[in-house]
Amino acid sequence: MPKNSLDKKANSWSGRFSEPVAELVKKYTASVDFDKRFAEFDIQGSLAHAQMLGAQGIISNKDVGAIEKGLAEILAEIQAGKFEWSLDLEDVHLNIEKRLTDKIGDAGKRLHTGRSRNDQVATDVRLWLRATTDDVLAGIRKLQTSILDLAEQHTDTIMPGFTHLQVAQPVTFGHHLMAYFEMLKRDAARFVDCRKRINYLPLGAAALAGTSYPINRELVAKTLGFDGVCENSLDAVSDRDFAIEFTAASAILMTHLSRFSEELILWSSPRFAFIDIADRFCTGSSIMPQKKNPDVPELVRGKTGRVNGNLVALLTLMKGQPLAYNKDNQEDKEPLFDTADTLLMTLEIYADMLRGIQVNKANMQQAALEGFATATDLADYLVKKGMPFRDAHEAVALAVKHAIKKGSDLADLSLKELQQFSNTISDDVFKVLTLAGSVASRNHIGGTAPIQVKQAIKRARKVLN
Ligand code: ARG
Repeated sequence: MPKNSLDKKANSWSGRFSEPVAELVKKYTASVDFDKRFAEFDIQGSLAHAQMLGAQGIISNKDVGAIEKGLAEILAEIQAGKFEWSLDLEDVHLNIEKRLTDKIGDAGKRLHTGRSRNDQVATDVRLWLRATTDDVLAGIRKLQTSILDLAEQHTDTIMPGFTHLQVAQPVTFGHHLMAYFEMLKRDAARFVDCRKRINYLPLGAAALAGTSYPINRELVAKTLGFDGVCENSLDAVSDRDFAIEFTAASAILMTHLSRFSEELILWSSPRFAFIDIADRFCTGSSIMPQKKNPDVPELVRGKTGRVNGNLVALLTLMKGQPLAYNKDNQEDKEPLFDTADTLLMTLEIYADMLRGIQVNKANMQQAALEGFATATDLADYLVKKGMPFRDAHEAVALAVKHAIKKGSDLADLSLKELQQFSNTISDDVFKVLTLAGSVASRNHIGGTAPIQVKQAIKRARKVLN
C-alpha cells in the first residue's frame, strides 16, 4: 500500500482488505443515516481531544489550530445543511474526519491519535444523552407546572375516587391530579440520578485497552464538563447501562402518562362526561359525524408500547455481548433516539393539553353522589359512637342494600330508616353523609381534604422553584 492510500479510498480502515465491501453490506453496516445526529457532540469531543493532544505535546499546536478551524467550518456546514454525508464513510465519525482531512490535510489525520471510534462513539452517546436528559427534565417541569395550575383550580371540586373502577370514596379532582405530580416528581429524580452515571468520560479507553500516548484524560473530562473519567477502559467502550437506565426511566414515565391518558379517555367519554379535551387535541371520524376522539391521550398510551419496546431492545442488545466493544452497540442509537423523541414530544404536548381541559364539576359531583361513596364515612361515624369497625362495616352494608332496593342514596334515607341499622345514629349523621363533609374529614398530610390539597400544591410549587 502506498503511504498516502487514505487520500484515495473512501474509508479509513480498508488497507488490509482486497475487495470492497458489498453494496448491501455497506447499507447494512452503515449508521450515518441516524448517527449524524451526534455531529455537534462528535465535534465537541474531537476538539477537546485535539486540545489535550496539543497540551500534552502529542501533536503540535499548529495542528491543533488547524483542527479547530477545520472543525468549526464543518460544524457550520452541518448546521447550514450543506454537509454531504456519505454512506461510503459509514458513520458520523468517519464522515467528519474525512472532511477535516480534505480541508486541512495531515493535521486532520493526526486527530485520531490515541483514540478509537469505540471510545469516540461512547463519548458522543454520553454527551448527547446528557443534553437530552436536561431537555427531559425541563419538559417534566413544564408538565408539572400545568398539573399544578389545573389542580389549583380544583382543590374543592368533588369527584368519585375509584378502586376497581367502582365508585369508592369521594375525592377532590385537585387531589387526583396531584397524584400525577408525585409520580412525575419521582420520574424527575430518576433522570437526575441517571444523569450522574451518564456524566463520565470514556475517551482515553481507545479501542479497549487504553493507549500508549501520554494522554491527560482528566483534562478532556474537564473540558467536556464530565464529572470524571470511566475508570476501566474495557467497561468504558462496551457498556451502555446508562442508556438502558435512561430508557427505563423513560418507560416508567411513559407508563405514568399512559395511565393518566387512560383516565382522560374515560373521563372525556360521554358516559362519564367529567372533562372536555380541547378540540386541537382531538380528531373526528371520517364516517361518524358526531365523533370527537381523544387521539392525543390514545397515542400517548400507544406510544408507551414503543418506549417499553425500546427498553427491551436495549437490554436484549446488551445481554449476550462479551467484553469489550462489539458492533452490536451500533444498534443502541435508534431505540435511544426514538425514546428521546417520543418522550420529549409527549411531555410538551401533555403540558399543553392539560391547559386546554374543561372540567364539568356538576357531572363529577353527580357521579360521586350515585355510588354510595360516603358508606365508609357512615361506618367511621358508627365507630366514633363506639361500635367496633367490623360491626359498623356490616351495619352499613345492610343500609346500602336497603338503599339499593329503594333506589336511593344513603343521604336520602330518613333518620328513622338509618336507625334500623344502629340505634346510635342521630341527626348529626347527615353531616358525614355529604360529599363535602367526607372529603373535608380526610384532613391529614396526603389526604384529600381541600385544605390539604392546597398545602400540597404549595409544597409542590416550592419543589419546582
Ligand atoms: N458506528 C459505530 C457505533 O455506533 C462506531 C464505532 C465503530 N467501531 C468499530 N470498531 N467498528 O458503534
